[in-house]
Amino acid sequence: MKTKKLSAGLLLALILLISALPMVEAKSSPPSLDKVEAFVADQLAGGGRANVFVKLASDANLRDVEGMVNRNDRLNAAHDRLTAHAAASQKDLLVFLDKQGVEYRSFWINNSVYVFDADQALVDVLAARADVAYVRGDHSVPLHAPVAQEISPSGGIQAVEWGVDLINAPDVWATGNTGEGVVVANIDTGVRYTHMALRNQYRGSLGGGSYDHDYSWWDPDGALAAPTDTNGHGTHTMGTMVGDDGGANQIGVAPGAQWIAAQGCDSVFCTDFDLISSAEWIACPTRVDGSDPDCTKAPDIVNNSWGGSGGDSWYQSYVDAWAAAGILPVFSAGNSGPSCNTVGSPGDYRNVMGIGATNISDTLASFSSKGPGVFRRLKPDFSAPGESVRSSYNTSDTSYAVLSGTSMAAPHVAGALALLSADTPGRSFNYYYRALRDTTVQTLGNPPDPDACGGRSYTTWPNPIYGWGRIDAAAAAAYIP
Ligand SMILES: *[C@@H]1O[C@H](CO)[C@@H](O)[C@H](O)[C@H]1NC(C)=O
Ligand SMILES: *[C@@H]1O[C@H](CO)[C@@H](O)[C@H](O)[C@H]1NC(C)=O
Ligand SMILES: *[C@@H]1O[C@H](CO)[C@@H](O)[C@H](O)[C@H]1NC(C)=O
Ligand SMILES: *[C@@H]1O[C@H](CO)[C@@H](O)[C@H](O)[C@H]1NC(C)=O
Repeated sequence: MKTKKLSAGLLLALILLISALPMVEAKSSPPSLDKVEAFVADQLAGGGRANVFVKLASDANLRDVEGMVNRNDRLNAAHDRLTAHAAASQKDLLVFLDKQGVEYRSFWINNSVYVFDADQALVDVLAARADVAYVRGDHSVPLHAPVAQEISPSGGIQAVEWGVDLINAPDVWATGNTGEGVVVANIDTGVRYTHMALRNQYRGSLGGGSYDHDYSWWDPDGALAAPTDTNGHGTHTMGTMVGDDGGANQIGVAPGAQWIAAQGCDSVFCTDFDLISSAEWIACPTRVDGSDPDCTKAPDIVNNSWGGSGGDSWYQSYVDAWAAAGILPVFSAGNSGPSCNTVGSPGDYRNVMGIGATNISDTLASFSSKGPGVFRRLKPDFSAPGESVRSSYNTSDTSYAVLSGTSMAAPHVAGALALLSADTPGRSFNYYYRALRDTTVQTLGNPPDPDACGGRSYTTWPNPIYGWGRIDAAAAAAYIP
């Protein structure tokens, strides 16, 4: 059944592949005297200046929002609650900053104010305020690019890509479901929107080669009026989710779905500023210039391929805001295997799906991060094809590349979720999770050493190697009545 309208189902893929998000010591238990992160103190030393996040001491309560049945009500209520709380609690601080003539940007999703070019004296005053919890720096995390194995300028149509085939997406298409009505987004390096496998599925496409980028593209720096990908990663992962290179031959799991994108990473780095700005846009998309938010244009699923060291909760509040609004987050587990306990954050949070990568012989890829992780859910959650995956690339409208990484695995799960939510829209994280969990393939190869982590072997289910197993989109779709 494909009765779902855009407003009812947007599948969001957030893709940021960050290898080493620095752990921030100050945030674990900041003593009251030390509300300033050491990273900031270092930048200010000797008369320096720093761009800083000033985190307010209070947080909005979203608990009852999650219980709302209507998806648009939920999205609007989460946005209203967060923006109203931020406006009230930031009022005095913003008056003070205005008086100082300081340039700043207010964020509602985590109740913080980003102050540009602060000096020591200003940071001291900010940290001393009772309404300020802490002052944190703007970290820059390197984009962790997957291994490019082969780039061809005009790959053209070949066949249904092996990973799409292995998870049995074609069997779902045969029932008439290719993900229509669902919108996928990524927070990544951007997307080459004119690529032949992607241009028809771009939500901003009006047909006949004309486009309207409002609500479909976000550049946190406001510099790019249309989707652009100077790296290739975002174009590749979007292709695995929704790419359609013609006829019966597909690179994407849900070629009938649409996509939107936020550029959380430039070609080499993702800054906290860009990631947080993108998180807000995902929760409530705006025009390209940031005006006229319309939360009904938010996606159902957020797919993310960025994250740093495990056990770091810095992005938890963003994930919580999406969860309250009814957006499903998918993250790659990370490419730090084969040692145990290498799953990164936010892939290790309990309310996201963290995905490991397998190869064409249904065996864990040696780079795929293993669990069990430190939060309250065994990680990874699932495995999916992620080694030697062919998809669209940024170099021309007809170019393709074969890449490897857990970033290539997560879009298979996000695509499968697009198919499930096209069939049965608006259900909970746990509902879709259960469908994937109860239908995984568990006859998988002997993984690269070690084959047990946290005392659990890869033959015991679930386990910290494969999670619940390798997903099967057709079995999951059949499982849902
Ligand atoms: C595509 O990405 C590569 C790096 O991966 C970059 O060198 C190149 O300039 C990009 N191409 C375009 C057209 O942006
Ligand atoms: C957002 O807020 C939470 C909870 O107050 C905090 O743990 C987290 O570090 C914050 N993130 C940022 C970037 O300030
Ligand atoms: C898949 O991975 C396993 C373990 O890393 C390896 O032994 C096997 O050769 C791989 N298969 C292919 C086709 O690369
Ligand atoms: C989905 O997230 C994974 C990692 O979590 C990433 O590798 C992949 O590129 C993302 N897919 C899309 C379409 O953004």
